[in-house]
Amino acid sequence: NTKKITNICCIGAGYVGGPTMAVIAQKCTHIKVTVVDLNKQRIADWNDADLDRLPIYEPGLADVVAEARGRNLFFSTDVDQAIAEAQMIFISVNTPTKTYGVGKGMAADLKYIELCARQIAKVSKDDKIIVEKSTLPVRTAEALRTILTSTGNGVKFDILSSPEFLAEGTAVQDLMNPDRFLIGGEQTESGEVAVQALVDIYLNWVPRENIITTRVWSSELSKLTANAFLAQRVSSINAISALCEKTGADVDEISRAIGADSRIGAKFLKSSVGFGGSCFQKDILNLVYLCQHFNLPEVADYWEQVIKMNDYQKHRFAKNIIDSLFNTVSGKKIAFLGWAFKKDTNDTRESAAIYVADELLQDRAEIHIYDPKVSKEQIFADLCRCEEERRDNLFDEVAKETYCDFLKKQVVVHLDPYTAMQAAHAIAILTEWDEFKTYDWKKVYGDVLKPAFIFDGRNILDKKQLSDIGFEVECIGKR
Ligand code: UDX
Ligand code: UDX
Ligand code: ADP
Repeated sequence: NTKKITNICCIGAGYVGGPTMAVIAQKCTHIKVTVVDLNKQRIADWNDADLDRLPIYEPGLADVVAEARGRNLFFSTDVDQAIAEAQMIFISVNTPTKTYGVGKGMAADLKYIELCARQIAKVSKDDKIIVEKSTLPVRTAEALRTILTSTGNGVKFDILSSPEFLAEGTAVQDLMNPDRFLIGGEQTESGEVAVQALVDIYLNWVPRENIITTRVWSSELSKLTANAFLAQRVSSINAISALCEKTGADVDEISRAIGADSRIGAKFLKSSVGFGGSCFQKDILNLVYLCQHFNLPEVADYWEQVIKMNDYQKHRFAKNIIDSLFNTVSGKKIAFLGWAFKKDTNDTRESAAIYVADELLQDRAEIHIYDPKVSKEQIFADLCRCEEERRDNLFDEVAKETYCDFLKKQVVVHLDPYTAMQAAHAIAILTEWDEFKTYDWKKVYGDVLKPAFIFDGRNILDKKQLSDIGFEVECIGKR
């Protein structure tokens, strides 16, 4: 008993849905893939003839889209039609942390997922396989099932969990050569058929031994666990970086030494200004919330510490800038190189740069920002959201306008890195973009105020070379 899939719909054309579906379409020319989104502008951008204007930036993505789009890859706002036609529906909508009510600041907000489920239930006339792609708390599949079967019109739904492990900046590479794809399904006859249908899709380019099948709940919890472990490694090495700065050990030497132990492994040991991205913090908060819900306070506290350490690392970086600049940055020009949460992406969600900038702004610094891929609008929106969260309900329209005016005075976004650094009191590296290494640092030195401070939040610059030029260089985890 098998089911051969020839028509897929994906709800949500974001950082996960877009690249994932582009690669499936490229690898499976016999399958029609339609990606839908409520956001009309986003869909228009995915359909833009100018491939430089796709809504997300990922190395290699434009080529994949160019090959498949219009052949068997389509981007559309007609959600109902795409659902009706599809045999398999991927749900890739966003699941941000709840900002209101029960579980505020902790639990995942499932309202977008719920809306999808209701729409699928309403539109579907024949049996469908539903695949959860978004990161979801354990047992979301159950909630999905309840909504989907509530119409009682006899349509049968099989629900799979197939979380996405791609990292931004390497999304296409990660999708083409995944360490593994994971599929969780029900241990029923139709559940197994559904799992096999998805295995068959992945088999078009992934070896069978790299496709892991589990129960639904294990799959759901694996995603949260993987992100919690990865974030935990970054927080662990960042904790050691603080000790290094006090004692004179070098954190990069430590990473190399411990990473050579095959039980530990070399990846994800790069000390930094703090991790960001849409997943780590959200997923850990989610895990903490789950543990509290199931009355496991010790387990909840254990994982919560990973986030506290990350907040501490961002704060330490900002504080070090203020301390070094003689205890105040008021009216001083601080140049930021990088705003994205990591290199090779235009995504800024939870980027450490936002929190560092915010802290310096509280001390009335003037911030001049350059990032090769992030827009000015995005940067202002990020800073505004920071204030909004701080003020909670007190952020009315007047307060918002006042704060926007303040931001417009204090923050300047540049299209050229050299003008951003011109006459700066200090330069801070927030993202590890490769191009920062290639700048003419001698020229920069001539253009900035002395003492010329550089705070390298990513340890990417050549400290010796910069010191020889005359810079005061402060790195993470080095004295
Ligand atoms: C450890 C380090 O591995 C070694 O590099 C160092 O030099 C000394 O300390 P040891 O204590 O001899 O070595 O044994 P190890 O294999 O690390 O196990 C330590 C404990 O962890 C044991 O009780 C073991 O049962 C437990 N363990 C280990 C687990 O419970 N789960 C695991 O996956 C691995
Ligand atoms: C992460 C997971 O890696 C991915 O598997 C999952 O699907 C989504 O979440 P992503 O957030 O896109 O991916 O990027 P990742 O490479 O994990 O980096 C997350 C943050 O950690 C970045 O801010 C990065 O700069 C930081 N980081 C990463 C470090 O500071 N040091 C490291 O050694 C690695
Ligand atoms: P992720 O990083 O998880 O991909 P994004 O925010 O980049 O998250 O993408 C999620 C997308 O899902 C957004 O473009 C949003 O407009 C879309 N979306 C959310 N809810 C729905 C819905 N009910 N129907 C269609 N699209 C939706």
